[in-house]
Amino acid sequence: MLRVAVMVSGGGTNLQAIIDAIKAGEVTNTELVAVISNNADAYALERARQNGIEAVVVSPKSYETRDEFNDALLEKVNSLNVDLIVLAGFLVKIPEKMVHEYSHRIINIHPSLIPSFCGKGYYGLKVHEAALEKGVKVSGATVHYVDEGMDTGEIIFQKAIEVEDGDTPEILQRRIMEQAEWKLLPAAINMIANKEN
Ligand code: GRF
Repeated sequence: MLRVAVMVSGGGTNLQAIIDAIKAGEVTNTELVAVISNNADAYALERARQNGIEAVVVSPKSYETRDEFNDALLEKVNSLNVDLIVLAGFLVKIPEKMVHEYSHRIINIHPSLIPSFCGKGYYGLKVHEAALEKGVKVSGATVHYVDEGMDTGEIIFQKAIEVEDGDTPEILQRRIMEQAEWKLLPAAINMIANKEN
Protein backbone atom coordinates (compact mmCIF):
# COMPACT_ATOMS: atom_id res chain seq x y z
CA MET A 1 0.00 0.00 0.00
CA LEU A 2 1.53 3.31 -1.10
CA ARG A 3 1.32 5.84 1.75
CA VAL A 4 0.80 9.32 0.30
CA ALA A 5 0.86 12.84 1.74
CA VAL A 6 -0.69 15.57 -0.43
CA MET A 7 0.55 19.14 -0.03
CA VAL A 8 -1.85 21.94 -0.95
CA SER A 9 -2.30 25.73 -0.75
CA GLY A 10 -5.67 26.43 -2.34
CA GLY A 11 -9.03 25.07 -3.42
CA GLY A 12 -7.91 21.45 -3.63
CA THR A 13 -9.58 20.39 -6.89
CA ASN A 14 -6.53 18.27 -7.72
CA LEU A 15 -6.74 16.70 -4.25
CA GLN A 16 -10.44 16.03 -4.87
CA ALA A 17 -9.59 14.35 -8.17
CA ILE A 18 -7.21 12.00 -6.33
CA ILE A 19 -9.80 11.24 -3.63
CA ASP A 20 -12.47 10.55 -6.27
CA ALA A 21 -10.12 8.36 -8.34
CA ILE A 22 -9.33 6.21 -5.30
CA LYS A 23 -13.04 5.87 -4.50
CA ALA A 24 -13.74 4.92 -8.14
CA GLY A 25 -11.02 2.26 -8.06
CA GLU A 26 -9.02 4.08 -10.76
CA VAL A 27 -6.17 4.50 -8.28
CA THR A 28 -5.36 1.36 -6.30
CA ASN A 29 -2.93 0.25 -3.65
CA THR A 30 -2.84 3.82 -2.32
CA GLU A 31 -3.67 5.43 1.02
CA LEU A 32 -3.91 9.22 1.50
CA VAL A 33 -2.34 9.52 4.94
CA ALA A 34 -2.56 13.30 5.33
CA VAL A 35 -3.12 16.62 3.58
CA ILE A 36 -0.67 19.36 4.55
CA SER A 37 -1.15 23.05 3.78
CA ASN A 38 0.85 26.23 4.42
CA ASN A 39 -2.52 28.04 4.37
CA ALA A 40 -4.99 27.41 7.22
CA ASP A 41 -7.81 28.77 5.04
CA ALA A 42 -7.18 26.42 2.11
CA TYR A 43 -10.48 24.77 1.15
CA ALA A 44 -8.40 21.71 0.29
CA LEU A 45 -8.16 21.11 4.06
CA GLU A 46 -11.94 21.00 4.27
CA ARG A 47 -12.01 18.44 1.46
CA ALA A 48 -9.57 16.34 3.50
CA ARG A 49 -11.71 16.57 6.64
CA GLN A 50 -14.85 15.66 4.65
CA ASN A 51 -13.06 12.47 3.59
CA GLY A 52 -11.63 11.50 6.96
CA ILE A 53 -8.07 12.42 6.00
CA GLU A 54 -5.78 14.12 8.55
CA ALA A 55 -5.62 17.84 7.72
CA VAL A 56 -2.42 19.55 8.85
CA VAL A 57 -1.33 23.20 8.71
CA VAL A 58 2.34 24.12 8.76
CA SER A 59 2.42 27.86 8.11
CA PRO A 60 5.54 29.97 7.54
CA LYS A 61 3.75 32.67 9.58
CA SER A 62 4.14 30.49 12.69
CA TYR A 63 7.94 30.52 12.54
CA GLU A 64 10.55 33.20 13.07
CA THR A 65 12.61 32.19 10.08
CA ARG A 66 12.19 30.26 6.83
CA ASP A 67 14.74 27.72 8.07
CA GLU A 68 12.59 27.01 11.14
CA PHE A 69 9.53 26.57 8.90
CA ASN A 70 11.49 24.27 6.58
CA ASP A 71 12.62 22.13 9.53
CA ALA A 72 9.07 21.96 10.94
CA LEU A 73 7.65 20.96 7.55
CA LEU A 74 10.21 18.20 7.09
CA GLU A 75 9.69 16.98 10.66
CA LYS A 76 5.93 16.75 10.12
CA VAL A 77 6.33 14.90 6.81
CA ASN A 78 8.83 12.49 8.33
CA SER A 79 6.43 11.76 11.20
CA LEU A 80 3.83 10.56 8.68
CA ASN A 81 6.07 7.78 7.35
CA VAL A 82 4.95 8.26 3.71
CA ASP A 83 6.28 6.71 0.50
CA LEU A 84 5.24 9.56 -1.82
CA ILE A 85 4.62 13.28 -1.47
CA VAL A 86 2.21 14.84 -3.99
CA LEU A 87 2.31 18.61 -4.56
CA ALA A 88 -1.20 19.57 -5.68
CA GLY A 89 -1.14 23.33 -6.01
CA PHE A 90 1.41 23.76 -3.22
CA LEU A 91 2.83 27.24 -3.61
CA VAL A 92 5.77 27.07 -1.19
CA LYS A 93 9.24 26.04 -2.41
CA ILE A 94 10.13 22.59 -1.10
CA PRO A 95 13.16 22.80 1.19
CA GLU A 96 16.31 21.43 -0.46
CA LYS A 97 16.86 19.10 2.52
CA MET A 98 13.41 17.59 1.88
CA VAL A 99 14.06 17.19 -1.84
CA HIS A 100 17.21 15.23 -1.01
CA GLU A 101 15.58 13.10 1.72
CA TYR A 102 12.65 12.29 -0.60
CA SER A 103 14.62 12.08 -3.83
CA HIS A 104 12.40 10.72 -6.64
CA ARG A 105 9.51 10.50 -4.13
CA ILE A 106 7.95 13.95 -4.64
CA ILE A 107 5.74 14.68 -7.66
CA ASN A 108 4.14 17.95 -8.79
CA ILE A 109 1.36 18.94 -11.17
CA HIS A 110 2.09 22.00 -13.29
CA PRO A 111 -0.56 23.57 -15.55
CA SER A 112 1.51 23.86 -18.74
CA LEU A 113 3.57 21.69 -21.07
CA ILE A 114 6.95 22.03 -19.36
CA PRO A 115 9.41 23.56 -20.37
CA SER A 116 6.92 26.22 -21.50
CA PHE A 117 5.53 28.70 -18.97
CA CYS A 118 7.18 27.25 -15.89
CA GLY A 119 9.71 28.23 -13.26
CA LYS A 120 9.79 31.29 -11.03
CA GLY A 121 6.60 33.36 -11.16
CA TYR A 122 4.63 30.84 -13.23
CA TYR A 123 1.85 29.44 -11.04
CA GLY A 124 -1.95 29.24 -11.08
CA LEU A 125 -3.64 31.72 -13.42
CA LYS A 126 -0.34 33.42 -14.31
CA VAL A 127 0.61 30.35 -16.35
CA HIS A 128 -2.48 30.64 -18.54
CA GLU A 129 -2.19 34.42 -18.87
CA ALA A 130 1.34 33.92 -20.24
CA ALA A 131 0.20 31.17 -22.63
CA LEU A 132 -2.59 33.34 -24.05
CA GLU A 133 -0.26 36.34 -24.21
CA LYS A 134 2.19 34.27 -26.28
CA GLY A 135 -0.61 33.05 -28.50
CA VAL A 136 0.13 29.33 -28.22
CA LYS A 137 -2.43 27.07 -29.94
CA VAL A 138 -1.81 24.19 -27.54
CA SER A 139 -1.12 24.15 -23.83
CA GLY A 140 -1.74 21.44 -21.24
CA ALA A 141 -0.41 20.00 -17.99
CA THR A 142 2.66 18.14 -16.78
CA VAL A 143 3.28 15.79 -13.86
CA HIS A 144 6.94 15.58 -12.96
CA TYR A 145 9.30 14.51 -10.18
CA VAL A 146 10.49 17.38 -8.00
CA ASP A 147 14.21 18.10 -7.90
CA GLU A 148 16.22 21.06 -6.57
CA GLY A 149 14.96 23.34 -9.31
CA MET A 150 11.49 24.79 -9.91
CA ASP A 151 9.42 22.68 -12.36
CA THR A 152 12.65 21.11 -13.64
CA GLY A 153 12.46 17.46 -12.55
CA GLU A 154 12.01 14.35 -14.73
CA ILE A 155 8.68 14.46 -16.56
CA ILE A 156 6.27 11.60 -15.83
CA PHE A 157 3.15 12.43 -17.91
CA GLN A 158 1.96 15.29 -20.10
CA LYS A 159 -1.39 16.00 -21.78
CA ALA A 160 -1.91 18.60 -24.50
CA ILE A 161 -5.07 20.70 -24.52
CA GLU A 162 -6.21 22.89 -27.43
CA VAL A 163 -6.41 26.63 -26.82
CA GLU A 164 -9.76 27.81 -28.24
CA ASP A 165 -10.82 31.15 -29.74
CA GLY A 166 -12.13 33.45 -27.06
CA ASP A 167 -10.37 31.64 -24.23
CA THR A 168 -9.77 33.74 -21.14
CA PRO A 169 -7.15 32.63 -18.60
CA GLU A 170 -9.98 31.34 -16.40
CA ILE A 171 -11.61 29.32 -19.21
CA LEU A 172 -8.28 27.84 -20.30
CA GLN A 173 -7.34 27.03 -16.70
CA ARG A 174 -10.63 25.21 -16.14
CA ARG A 175 -10.28 23.17 -19.35
CA ILE A 176 -6.71 22.18 -18.48
CA MET A 177 -7.71 21.27 -14.93
CA GLU A 178 -10.73 19.20 -16.02
CA GLN A 179 -9.18 17.48 -19.04
CA ALA A 180 -5.54 17.23 -18.02
CA GLU A 181 -4.58 17.88 -14.39
CA TRP A 182 -7.37 15.91 -12.78
CA LYS A 183 -6.49 12.92 -14.99
CA LEU A 184 -2.68 13.03 -15.00
CA LEU A 185 -2.11 13.34 -11.26
CA PRO A 186 -4.21 10.30 -10.25
CA ALA A 187 -2.69 8.34 -13.15
CA ALA A 188 0.83 9.15 -11.96
CA ILE A 189 0.02 8.09 -8.39
CA ASN A 190 -1.55 4.85 -9.64
CA MET A 191 1.51 4.10 -11.79
CA ILE A 192 3.86 4.64 -8.84
CA ALA A 193 1.64 2.67 -6.46
CA ASN A 194 1.56 -0.33 -8.79
CA LYS A 195 4.95 -0.34 -10.48
CA GLU A 196 7.03 -3.45 -10.07
CA ASN A 197 9.94 -2.56 -7.78
C1 GRF B 1 -4.03 24.66 -10.24
O1 GRF B 1 -4.01 25.77 -11.13
C2 GRF B 1 -2.94 23.73 -10.61
O2 GRF B 1 -2.68 23.75 -11.98
C3 GRF B 1 -1.75 24.28 -9.91
O3 GRF B 1 -2.23 24.94 -8.76
C4 GRF B 1 -3.62 25.10 -8.85
C5 GRF B 1 -4.19 24.22 -7.77
O4 GRF B 1 -5.49 24.08 -7.87
N1 GRF B 1 -0.86 23.24 -9.59
P1 GRF B 1 -6.26 23.19 -6.77
O5 GRF B 1 -5.87 23.74 -5.41
O6 GRF B 1 -5.80 21.76 -6.94
O7 GRF B 1 -7.69 23.41 -7.10
